[in-house]
Amino acid sequence: MPQDAAQTIYLADYAPFTHTVEQVHLTFRLAPGATRVLSRISFAPTPNAPAGPFFLHGEQLNLISARIDGAPVTPEVTATGLTCPVPDGPFTWEAEVEISPETNTALEGLYMSRSMYCTQCEAEGFRKITFYPDRPDVMAPFTVRIESDLPVLLSNGNPTGNGDGWAEWTDPWPKPAYLFALVAGELVNHADRFTTASGRDVELNIWVRPGDEHKCAFGMDALKRSMQWDEEVYGREYDLDVFNIVAVDDFNMGAMENKGLNIFNSSAVLASPETSTDANFERIEGIIAHEYFHNWTGNRITCRDWFQLCLKEGLTVFRDQQFTGDMRSHAVKRIEDVLMLRGRQFREDNGPLAHPVRPESFVEINNFYTATVYEKGAEVIGMLKRLVGDDAYYQALDLYFDRHDGQACTIEDWLKVFEDTTGRDLSQFKRWYAQAGTPRVRVDEAWSPGPKGGTYTLHLRQTTPPTPGQPDKEPLVIPVAVGLLSPNGDEVVPTQVLEFTEVSQAFKFEGLASRPVPSILRGFSAPVILERQSSADERAFLLAHDTDPFNKWEAGRGLAKDVLSRTIAGKPAPTASFVDALHAMAADTRLDPAFRALALRLPAQDDMAQTLFDSGLTPDPLQIYSALRHLRETIAAQMGGLLADLYDEMAVPGPYRPDAEDSGRRSLRQAALSYLTLIDGGARARTQFAGADNMTEQLGALSCLLDIGAADTALADFRTQWQNDRLVMDKWFGLQVSLAPPDTAAVRANALTEDRDFDWKNPNRFRAVIGGLAMNPAGFHDPSGASYALVTDWLIRLDPVNPQTTARMSTAFETWKRYDADRQGMIRENLERLAATPGLSRDTTEMVSRILA
Ligand code: PHE
Ligand code: ZN
Repeated sequence: MPQDAAQTIYLADYAPFTHTVEQVHLTFRLAPGATRVLSRISFAPTPNAPAGPFFLHGEQLNLISARIDGAPVTPEVTATGLTCPVPDGPFTWEAEVEISPETNTALEGLYMSRSMYCTQCEAEGFRKITFYPDRPDVMAPFTVRIESDLPVLLSNGNPTGNGDGWAEWTDPWPKPAYLFALVAGELVNHADRFTTASGRDVELNIWVRPGDEHKCAFGMDALKRSMQWDEEVYGREYDLDVFNIVAVDDFNMGAMENKGLNIFNSSAVLASPETSTDANFERIEGIIAHEYFHNWTGNRITCRDWFQLCLKEGLTVFRDQQFTGDMRSHAVKRIEDVLMLRGRQFREDNGPLAHPVRPESFVEINNFYTATVYEKGAEVIGMLKRLVGDDAYYQALDLYFDRHDGQACTIEDWLKVFEDTTGRDLSQFKRWYAQAGTPRVRVDEAWSPGPKGGTYTLHLRQTTPPTPGQPDKEPLVIPVAVGLLSPNGDEVVPTQVLEFTEVSQAFKFEGLASRPVPSILRGFSAPVILERQSSADERAFLLAHDTDPFNKWEAGRGLAKDVLSRTIAGKPAPTASFVDALHAMAADTRLDPAFRALALRLPAQDDMAQTLFDSGLTPDPLQIYSALRHLRETIAAQMGGLLADLYDEMAVPGPYRPDAEDSGRRSLRQAALSYLTLIDGGARARTQFAGADNMTEQLGALSCLLDIGAADTALADFRTQWQNDRLVMDKWFGLQVSLAPPDTAAVRANALTEDRDFDWKNPNRFRAVIGGLAMNPAGFHDPSGASYALVTDWLIRLDPVNPQTTARMSTAFETWKRYDADRQGMIRENLERLAATPGLSRDTTEMVSRILA
């Protein structure tokens, strides 16, 4: 049995809290092993709330004393909280508790990261700090006093006082406890200012450890651009005098939107040309924007309960995607987002962990910070915007901010602002929030010539496969963006959005001179799997002529998948037409280099495994690995001349800049190098590695050398150069595992776990090695089963230390049902071994039992 008998929480059981909180005062007397937290909280009965005992959450707290209206009380304390008789009217609660940040390795609540104090309260970490109604619908203004000799003492809101050994912060905006934050340490700041549209002067700081000052400029610039963008696009201004960001080395996730005090995993904010890749820069820009945007979508308007998580996350992801598109390229960003959606969310939605965008039950909420809630949640908003149009979308958002500012809301509130703005009935659309699984849309078409032009008919049919707990599915509202091309390549029907709402529906296009070639699901207008027979010729035609950049890319993708699937099945494959089309695309100088780089990237191994599984086959990871390798060699051999030219032409002169243009050129150059390395024995990669003055080119060269098994010297040099930079060393650890040849991956990962720098309690380092192995599909699924066992051993070891990260990493096994009986047998054995671990956390227990179910 797990330590605390796991309880399932249901959306249907929601009831408001018995009391409201008028004001919170907290005092922290910081000490590593024994921090005292004094709370003074004014409560008042919630009008019309269901009667019930007064209950405050609290876990792992040592209660020193408690008082109500000044009189000592003795509450009844359990492992999850306390109950206490309280007066009928308003009252003041005071408590003093002791906690131990030093021994808090779960990184939830108040903990220490290399001598710095910091907090993580989302979702339910505040209850490890003091007794409180730790639920998002209880919102209150906070005042915080921190007592410590450390030089920098931060909390939410505005600074309202400080002296020798103390500082006080006041946050006037009512907030739920999950947005509370505190930081104390020997930190230095990179400071700047921003003036809001209405003239408010805001002080901006990025706080880091001494030595990291030179890695703040880019994050600061991204922050200012985010602030300006939210004013221009959503009319949202910042609402405090200061905005602080802190970089923390030990952090379970990417970053956290605490009011006025965002806390970031250092990997999600620190950047310099020498230590960060172009991809790092782009990710950092997106995460800074995401956390900043939460100030309105999440903080000013928050979630009523954790089932509504997508209310803030789906919307904020959608907003950060829009932002990145505006900053860089919409076409490229859309392709990247779809790659990520298919790679992570489709994988989840098509396996044992599938759940609705708004789940209806959970055991541990930390297990629901998923690609479905975040990425599919964002897709749902994109569909809504497409259906109502841009103007109505922004009107509905204005209404949302107007109507719900200061509230804790639901998906119903969210959809209602769209209904009120547009007069539309969104009850069918709402199924996107309730129904799990990736819909399949089958397309059949008909052409009938006629005297006044012919009629082209698209027959669409939708089905959603069963998912855990949801055997039967209902039809969804699917916006299908379609354009038609004439056989000579002209666009005869520009993009229009078909509203596909029935199980089966026909859409007609009349008056056409000849049978058109359809471009369906332009811009990936809905998160579905399109099933349509398409010839290699037609794909090549769309690749050459489609005006929609997403579908142009998608056509090439489809061709690549055909080639790979057929090769794996031992059938003749359209390799020649694929290589021709790829050549034409790569050579087309009218196309953005970043786009060409994406086109040159072949489907990932895991993507191919899912594709094969979807078509009814049992994927063999080694076959996929070899087929990809073979195709890459073919491309290298046949396109060597062009690739060599691209490699030379795309060299970026001048100092490194992480903008879209330069990084696009570097990514096309890297794509070329990755093929060329297969035919030049690594000559170019070695030269590039030796001469690189930025991490993008250094790491790019290193990956190519690893890919051909010729990286020993480079790895050693890289380590010598970067041994004192933890973030760069994470790359060193991760890359060797994720790019190891299949039969050596487990051995390599195991060796790295014995390395002197393998600090397994640091989530970034653990993820680099153990997560890196899971990201090497052929290595992870090596028929010996060695990787399964190694990952399981480490999950068992990490679980008591950090359940949240352990549970998250257990998703390495979520695809196990795709594979053959031998592999399934070995995985089952390991999962059962994990499940049987005495004292296994609630987090991991829930995940493993869902994966095994
Ligand atoms: N709310 C954070 C975000 O989306 C993610 C997060 C969740 C971070 C839980 C920490 C813990 O930006
Ligand atoms: Zn978020």
